[in-house]
Amino acid sequence: MSARKKDPNTYIFKVFRYQPGKDEKPRFQTYEVPLLHPGMTVLEGLIYIKENLDPTLAVRYSCRMAVCGSCALYVNGKGILACHTALREFPSGKLTVEPMPNYPVVKDLMTRMDEFFDHHRQVKPYLLRPQDRAEIENPTREFLQLPEQLEEFLQFSYCIKCGLCVSACPTVATDPDFLGPQALMTVARYNRDSRDGGTVYRLKVVDAPHGLWNCHFAGACTEVCPKGVDPALAIQYTKRESVLHALHLNKLPRFRKKLAPVAPPPKPNRRPGIPPAPERTVPEAPAS
Ligand code: SF4
Ligand code: FES
Repeated sequence: MSARKKDPNTYIFKVFRYQPGKDEKPRFQTYEVPLLHPGMTVLEGLIYIKENLDPTLAVRYSCRMAVCGSCALYVNGKGILACHTALREFPSGKLTVEPMPNYPVVKDLMTRMDEFFDHHRQVKPYLLRPQDRAEIENPTREFLQLPEQLEEFLQFSYCIKCGLCVSACPTVATDPDFLGPQALMTVARYNRDSRDGGTVYRLKVVDAPHGLWNCHFAGACTEVCPKGVDPALAIQYTKRESVLHALHLNKLPRFRKKLAPVAPPPKPNRRPGIPPAPERTVPEAPAS
């Protein structure tokens, strides 16, 4: 970046513009964005451009509070959540804004996420309990879990599926069929959950070409993750689990995972003084 812009209350946005099928090649367009308040974010800057300077700019966002993961993009070569990054983090006042690499561009800053979610679906990102199918489909009780069992996977459950880890992954850059850090991290998130019984299924999915063993631990996924999930660590856990499984060592008591028991939910312990819930205003859905 060259010297700081002249007006400290104006930011220069150099924004990637491209619509495949319509534009011959990508280009950059420059906009001047005023600082509307001290904590103004990159996303607010882009919305300012859309609302005041150029309504044709395409940018994806939803929650504006670092929860939905849809505003992930790159500024000055670094992956960020646009709604969670303040303009003051760019003291030069100049921002080159680009879509996430490793994804096809739909338009401008919007990328196609189909493959990302396909990979996520492949590892079955939910509790698998074939032996408790009826309970899973029509829950009547609850799976018990101790706080220390929750700790085993809690960090990995903070993922908001923004896709930044995949955009930073050097293996995805050379092998688009690679499952990618997000899907591989999800394997550890569920396999380490004491309520889940799908470990063998998921190990089979990832112990395949374009799977677990294509990760060479570059760590770029962990570095870019805005939620501190650490996919690189999760992948190493799964590699260890896969080796133990292949050597039948996971059957040893030391490594065996016990499925959390199912139990009736405890009776609600109402605090005194809290009024009862109001009467239903819509009829209860019939049991299917
Ligand atoms: S692991 Fe982190 S970077 Fe990857 S999708 Fe989840 S939140 Fe985003
Ligand atoms: S808009 Fe939801 S994470 Fe940024």
